[in-house]
Amino acid sequence: MKAVVLISGNGSNLQAIIDNSADIGLLISCVISNKADAFGLKRAQTANIPTLLIEHQNFTSRQAFDDKLAEKIDWHQPDIIILAGFMRILSKIFVEKYAGKIINIHPSLLPQFKGLNTHQRALDAGVETHGATVHFVINKLDSGAIIMQKSIAITATDTAKSLQEKIQKIEHILYPLALKKISKKLS
Ligand code: GRF
Repeated sequence: MKAVVLISGNGSNLQAIIDNSADIGLLISCVISNKADAFGLKRAQTANIPTLLIEHQNFTSRQAFDDKLAEKIDWHQPDIIILAGFMRILSKIFVEKYAGKIINIHPSLLPQFKGLNTHQRALDAGVETHGATVHFVINKLDSGAIIMQKSIAITATDTAKSLQEKIQKIEHILYPLALKKISKKLS
Protein backbone atom coordinates (compact mmCIF):
# COMPACT_ATOMS: atom_id res chain seq x y z
CA MET A 1 0.00 0.00 0.00
CA LYS A 2 1.46 3.30 -1.12
CA ALA A 3 0.93 6.36 1.09
CA VAL A 4 1.53 10.06 1.34
CA VAL A 5 1.59 11.30 4.94
CA LEU A 6 0.57 14.86 5.86
CA ILE A 7 1.94 16.39 9.06
CA SER A 8 2.21 19.75 10.83
CA GLY A 9 4.24 19.00 13.94
CA ASN A 10 6.09 16.50 16.09
CA GLY A 11 5.23 13.48 13.98
CA SER A 12 5.23 10.85 16.74
CA ASN A 13 2.41 9.05 14.90
CA LEU A 14 4.41 9.27 11.69
CA GLN A 15 7.31 7.65 13.58
CA ALA A 16 5.07 4.81 14.78
CA ILE A 17 3.89 4.28 11.20
CA ILE A 18 7.46 4.33 9.83
CA ASP A 19 8.57 1.85 12.51
CA ASN A 20 5.74 -0.53 11.59
CA SER A 21 5.71 0.01 7.83
CA ALA A 22 7.21 -3.40 6.95
CA ASP A 23 4.60 -5.17 9.07
CA ILE A 24 1.78 -3.04 7.63
CA GLY A 25 2.99 -3.54 4.07
CA LEU A 26 3.29 0.20 3.62
CA LEU A 27 5.50 2.30 1.39
CA ILE A 28 5.56 5.97 2.36
CA SER A 29 6.29 7.81 -0.90
CA CYS A 30 6.42 11.25 0.62
CA VAL A 31 5.84 13.19 3.84
CA ILE A 32 4.35 16.64 3.28
CA SER A 33 4.27 19.36 5.95
CA ASN A 34 2.60 22.75 5.94
CA LYS A 35 5.02 23.89 8.68
CA ALA A 36 8.77 24.39 8.14
CA ASP A 37 9.61 23.60 11.78
CA ALA A 38 7.65 20.32 11.94
CA PHE A 39 9.93 17.80 13.65
CA GLY A 40 8.21 15.07 11.64
CA LEU A 41 10.15 16.28 8.57
CA LYS A 42 13.40 15.33 10.35
CA ARG A 43 11.93 11.94 11.30
CA ALA A 44 11.10 11.28 7.64
CA GLN A 45 14.52 12.41 6.45
CA THR A 46 16.19 10.11 8.98
CA ALA A 47 14.14 7.25 7.52
CA ASN A 48 15.17 8.27 3.97
CA ILE A 49 11.62 9.22 3.01
CA PRO A 50 11.27 12.14 0.56
CA THR A 51 9.80 15.26 2.18
CA LEU A 52 8.05 18.32 0.87
CA LEU A 53 7.21 21.62 2.53
CA ILE A 54 4.12 23.47 1.30
CA GLU A 55 3.63 26.48 3.58
CA HIS A 56 -0.02 27.46 3.67
CA GLN A 57 0.76 31.12 4.36
CA ASN A 58 2.25 31.40 0.87
CA PHE A 59 -1.19 30.83 -0.69
CA THR A 60 -3.95 33.38 -1.10
CA SER A 61 -6.76 30.95 -0.32
CA ARG A 62 -7.43 27.57 1.29
CA GLN A 63 -8.37 26.21 -2.13
CA ALA A 64 -5.11 27.38 -3.72
CA PHE A 65 -3.16 25.57 -0.98
CA ASP A 66 -5.27 22.42 -1.35
CA ASP A 67 -4.85 22.48 -5.14
CA LYS A 68 -1.06 22.56 -4.77
CA LEU A 69 -1.27 19.77 -2.20
CA ALA A 70 -3.38 17.66 -4.58
CA GLU A 71 -0.96 18.30 -7.46
CA LYS A 72 1.96 17.05 -5.37
CA ILE A 73 0.03 14.07 -3.98
CA ASP A 74 -1.12 13.00 -7.45
CA TRP A 75 2.47 12.82 -8.59
CA HIS A 76 2.90 9.88 -6.17
CA GLN A 77 -0.40 8.14 -7.02
CA PRO A 78 -0.92 6.92 -3.43
CA ASP A 79 -3.50 4.33 -2.35
CA ILE A 80 -3.98 6.26 0.85
CA ILE A 81 -3.43 9.74 2.31
CA ILE A 82 -2.57 9.54 6.00
CA LEU A 83 -3.18 12.59 8.20
CA ALA A 84 -0.83 12.41 11.18
CA GLY A 85 -1.25 15.58 13.19
CA PHE A 86 -2.02 17.66 10.09
CA MET A 87 -3.55 20.81 11.54
CA ARG A 88 -5.39 22.16 8.49
CA ILE A 89 -9.02 21.77 7.59
CA LEU A 90 -9.15 20.35 4.05
CA SER A 91 -11.58 21.82 1.51
CA LYS A 92 -14.70 20.01 0.28
CA ILE A 93 -13.21 19.73 -3.21
CA PHE A 94 -10.04 18.10 -1.85
CA VAL A 95 -11.86 15.70 0.47
CA GLU A 96 -14.31 14.63 -2.23
CA LYS A 97 -11.53 14.14 -4.79
CA TYR A 98 -9.94 11.56 -2.48
CA ALA A 99 -13.14 10.12 -0.98
CA GLY A 100 -12.43 6.88 0.91
CA LYS A 101 -8.68 7.42 0.68
CA ILE A 102 -7.96 9.95 3.46
CA ILE A 103 -7.64 8.74 7.03
CA ASN A 104 -7.02 10.57 10.29
CA ILE A 105 -6.36 9.81 13.94
CA HIS A 106 -8.33 11.76 16.51
CA PRO A 107 -7.65 11.85 20.27
CA SER A 108 -11.10 10.83 21.54
CA LEU A 109 -13.62 8.04 21.23
CA LEU A 110 -15.57 9.53 18.35
CA PRO A 111 -18.36 10.55 18.02
CA GLN A 112 -17.56 12.01 21.45
CA PHE A 113 -15.43 15.16 21.57
CA LYS A 114 -14.93 16.15 17.95
CA GLY A 115 -12.58 19.12 17.46
CA LEU A 116 -9.90 20.42 19.83
CA ASN A 117 -9.08 20.13 23.58
CA THR A 118 -10.51 16.63 23.75
CA HIS A 119 -8.73 15.61 26.98
CA GLN A 120 -9.95 18.55 29.08
CA ARG A 121 -13.44 18.15 27.62
CA ALA A 122 -13.46 14.45 28.55
CA LEU A 123 -12.47 15.36 32.12
CA ASP A 124 -15.08 18.14 32.30
CA ALA A 125 -17.77 15.77 31.04
CA GLY A 126 -16.85 13.22 33.73
CA VAL A 127 -16.70 10.29 31.33
CA GLU A 128 -15.04 7.11 32.61
CA THR A 129 -13.35 6.05 29.39
CA HIS A 130 -11.44 7.99 26.78
CA GLY A 131 -9.36 6.97 23.80
CA ALA A 132 -8.38 7.45 20.19
CA THR A 133 -10.10 6.83 16.87
CA VAL A 134 -8.83 6.20 13.35
CA HIS A 135 -11.47 7.27 10.84
CA PHE A 136 -12.02 8.17 7.22
CA VAL A 137 -12.06 11.89 6.46
CA ILE A 138 -15.24 13.37 4.99
CA ASN A 139 -16.34 16.95 4.50
CA LYS A 140 -17.60 17.19 8.09
CA LEU A 141 -15.13 17.55 10.96
CA ASP A 142 -14.15 14.24 12.66
CA SER A 143 -17.29 12.54 11.34
CA GLY A 144 -16.23 9.95 8.74
CA ALA A 145 -16.66 6.19 9.18
CA ILE A 146 -14.70 4.74 12.08
CA ILE A 147 -11.98 2.25 11.16
CA MET A 148 -10.70 1.36 14.65
CA GLN A 149 -10.78 2.67 18.22
CA LYS A 150 -8.80 1.97 21.38
CA SER A 151 -9.88 3.07 24.83
CA ILE A 152 -8.40 3.65 28.29
CA ALA A 153 -10.01 4.17 31.69
CA ILE A 154 -9.83 7.68 33.14
CA THR A 155 -8.54 7.61 36.74
CA ALA A 156 -9.23 10.07 39.58
CA THR A 157 -5.72 11.55 39.31
CA ASP A 158 -5.78 12.10 35.52
CA THR A 159 -5.19 15.59 34.13
CA ALA A 160 -5.40 16.82 30.55
CA LYS A 161 -1.63 16.36 30.36
CA SER A 162 -1.60 12.81 31.72
CA LEU A 163 -4.44 11.88 29.36
CA GLN A 164 -2.59 13.38 26.43
CA GLU A 165 0.46 11.23 27.24
CA LYS A 166 -1.63 8.07 27.70
CA ILE A 167 -3.63 8.66 24.52
CA GLN A 168 -0.53 9.34 22.44
CA LYS A 169 0.87 5.97 23.56
CA ILE A 170 -2.25 4.14 22.43
CA GLU A 171 -2.33 6.14 19.16
CA HIS A 172 1.10 4.74 18.34
CA ILE A 173 -0.33 1.21 18.60
CA LEU A 174 -3.71 1.98 17.05
CA TYR A 175 -2.64 3.81 13.87
CA PRO A 176 -0.35 0.99 12.60
CA LEU A 177 -3.06 -1.58 13.44
CA ALA A 178 -5.71 0.36 11.51
CA LEU A 179 -3.35 0.77 8.56
CA LYS A 180 -2.66 -2.95 8.57
CA LYS A 181 -6.39 -3.59 8.44
CA ILE A 182 -6.74 -1.29 5.40
CA SER A 183 -3.65 -2.72 3.72
CA LYS A 184 -5.03 -6.28 4.07
CA LYS A 185 -8.31 -5.18 2.48
CA LEU A 186 -6.48 -3.62 -0.47
CA SER A 187 -4.28 -6.63 -1.12
C1 GRF B 1 -2.16 13.34 17.75
O1 GRF B 1 -2.40 13.31 19.11
C2 GRF B 1 -3.42 13.13 16.96
O2 GRF B 1 -4.45 12.56 17.70
C3 GRF B 1 -3.85 14.51 16.54
O3 GRF B 1 -2.66 15.24 16.44
C4 GRF B 1 -1.65 14.68 17.28
C5 GRF B 1 -0.41 14.57 16.47
O4 GRF B 1 0.72 14.21 17.22
N1 GRF B 1 -4.62 14.43 15.33
P1 GRF B 1 2.06 13.80 16.48
O5 GRF B 1 2.46 14.95 15.58
O6 GRF B 1 1.80 12.55 15.70
O7 GRF B 1 3.06 13.58 17.58
